[in-house]
Amino acid sequence: MMKLSSFCLFLTLTLLHRVFTISQIVEATEVALTPPRGWNSYDSFCWTISEEEFLQNAVLVDKLLRPSGYEYVVVDYLWYRRLVPGAYVDSLGFDVIDAWGRMIPDPVRWPSARDGKGFTEVAKIVHMMGLKFGIHIMRGISTQAVNANTPILDIRTGKAYEESGRKWYAKDIGMKERACKWMKNGFMSVDTKLGAGRAFLRSLYQQYADWGVDYVKHDCVFGDDLDISEIRVASKFWRERNSSIIYSLSPGTGVTPTMAKEINNLVNMYRITGDDWDLWQDVASHFDISRDFAAAHMTGAKALSGKSWPDLDMLPLGWLTDPGVNHGPYRNCKLSLNEQKTQMTLWSMARSPLMFGGDMRSIDKSTIRIIAHPVLSEINSFSSNNKQFPYITSQSSSQIKYKGLNFQTRSLKNVGRSGSIGLRLTSCKDASAKGWFTRYLNNEPEQVCWKGHVGSKYQAPFCLNKRGAFSTSGEQMTFKRRYQHHFYLFAENTRKLCLSASQNRRLTSKEISRISFSPCRPHTNQLWSFDENGTLVSSYSGLCASMSKIKDNVVPMGTRSWISTGRKGEIFLALFNLNPDETTISVKMSDLSKGLPYSNWTISSCGAYEIWRDKYYGIIKKTLSVAVETHGCALFVLRCI
Ligand SMILES: *[C@@H]1O[C@H](CO)[C@@H](O)[C@H](O)[C@H]1NC(C)=O
Ligand SMILES: *[C@@H]1O[C@H](CO)[C@@H](O)[C@H](O)[C@H]1NC(C)=O
Ligand SMILES: *[C@@H]1O[C@H](CO)[C@@H](O)[C@H](O)[C@H]1NC(C)=O
Repeated sequence: MMKLSSFCLFLTLTLLHRVFTISQIVEATEVALTPPRGWNSYDSFCWTISEEEFLQNAVLVDKLLRPSGYEYVVVDYLWYRRLVPGAYVDSLGFDVIDAWGRMIPDPVRWPSARDGKGFTEVAKIVHMMGLKFGIHIMRGISTQAVNANTPILDIRTGKAYEESGRKWYAKDIGMKERACKWMKNGFMSVDTKLGAGRAFLRSLYQQYADWGVDYVKHDCVFGDDLDISEIRVASKFWRERNSSIIYSLSPGTGVTPTMAKEINNLVNMYRITGDDWDLWQDVASHFDISRDFAAAHMTGAKALSGKSWPDLDMLPLGWLTDPGVNHGPYRNCKLSLNEQKTQMTLWSMARSPLMFGGDMRSIDKSTIRIIAHPVLSEINSFSSNNKQFPYITSQSSSQIKYKGLNFQTRSLKNVGRSGSIGLRLTSCKDASAKGWFTRYLNNEPEQVCWKGHVGSKYQAPFCLNKRGAFSTSGEQMTFKRRYQHHFYLFAENTRKLCLSASQNRRLTSKEISRISFSPCRPHTNQLWSFDENGTLVSSYSGLCASMSKIKDNVVPMGTRSWISTGRKGEIFLALFNLNPDETTISVKMSDLSKGLPYSNWTISSCGAYEIWRDKYYGIIKKTLSVAVETHGCALFVLRCI
């Protein structure tokens, strides 16, 4: 009897355990298990898209791209801005906001948003098509809401947020000195140390959830514009609700794997470059950074309710517009067909999210063939062990030296003398950020100096003069309170120019983010603090300054190769030619296993099929060689024994 009942108990417990395990799996929504794929309005409409244009695009995404896994349709920035004379990407006062200071879609551009419906109707239609709906949001709160000093909604009560016996308003939480650096009139951080600040952010996220949003692209909180506390509030919000929302960060100017490791488990995707446009330099600038993220095992790392993916940005192919303009598509993609294939091949081999940016209403067969290629879809979703493969040799057809594009760099006056050495931002955990010390010289202001030699070893150390945060007039009390121990830094001969952490405009991916001087003003972008471990911390982003070699104006050249393995035991091998002339790239079959995780596999021969040329190269026993056109690539599916 005893035996039987304990057996029953054991059985019941086992079953209960099973049931519990299963229900847990059902409840904890896992998202982004493969790199998310979809369409985004930015490359073809900048900010100007209307409901009609958006839904026309969605219908075509559903028809033409959904079979290839493109499922998110995303409205990019400023959907709340009225498209009227005077409005532009950094205008102030043209946004439609509700009584709680929250952005709502401009009802002229988005008619279904009338009567406070927001994006509910658009999301419904998108869901009926079987697609998922995404929106872009900026950091914190809008300047317009702060100027209007709107009350803050408490989502728990549905009433104005009260704490310490008083109501709280937009002016209490908005941090003007932390305005988004590249959209200075638009948005600023909110103080997440305040209950009211967090309540405001939650009121935004609740609204997006109520609308039925499946994907949030959060802008001006990452890269040089890091606002880690807001990322934490957002991530916590989605996680506590077991939300299936994809949480994406953009852009990623100056991002390194060390910096990304501070956020990658809080999000599902994060940009690792500035904006990618349809220029060869933009495409080429993604090779080294994606190599570094693959080597750091960041691809598909465990993250917010699923996985996270380093994001190389949208695919600007097809029918496009330009950054920052007030109009929609009017021109074709400037990349050659080979360059487009190279972009798609790198993005797939690096397992970047794939977001097509061209106007679907004008898409042509050649673009569809590139972005919906079944082998690339398979590689992007399901290949593993993806990484750069260095064991190749190459011979270019001539030795022309390519003069890189001279994009403008505003480098430091003082540092300019040391040529390729510059200041950049990095994670404060990065050992390379350690190296600052302070010193007093007779009758001189206190200085902050870099300990290493930045130029010739006979040069004096690189130093900047310190000045307290409050010597300029007109600063607010809250500003003083918050930044007591912070200071400005200026070069000896330029007292009016202060060291500034990030740029005034959005950078594209070919540009190098660097620190520069600009006229002094009370913004955290120019405030710094000194940590005892020798780090110099930006008050804007919490990132640290570091002196290092900066390669200016260099368009990457040479050849590259990536390897990965498929679900059916095949090997994918991509060969890229970044040279300005045709180059023959060769790989020895016996070297392939060096790129694979199993070193016990001695490869003797491989059947080689190249997908872009749709050509079978036969059984290769020794060396696979292929002539690759300038900026082009070859992508082989190898079946080896
Ligand atoms: C989220 O899922 C967990 C179990 O995984 C569950 O305990 C919790 O109640 C869920 N929360 C909500 C808001 O559904
Ligand atoms: C320096 O100290 C800060 C805390 O004061 C810490 O967060 C940071 O990781 C340290 N950096 C290094 C490189 O040791
Ligand atoms: C190589 O080793 C792995 C495990 O380490 C094993 O699964 C695989 O079958 C081996 N392959 C060969 C060709 O021996």
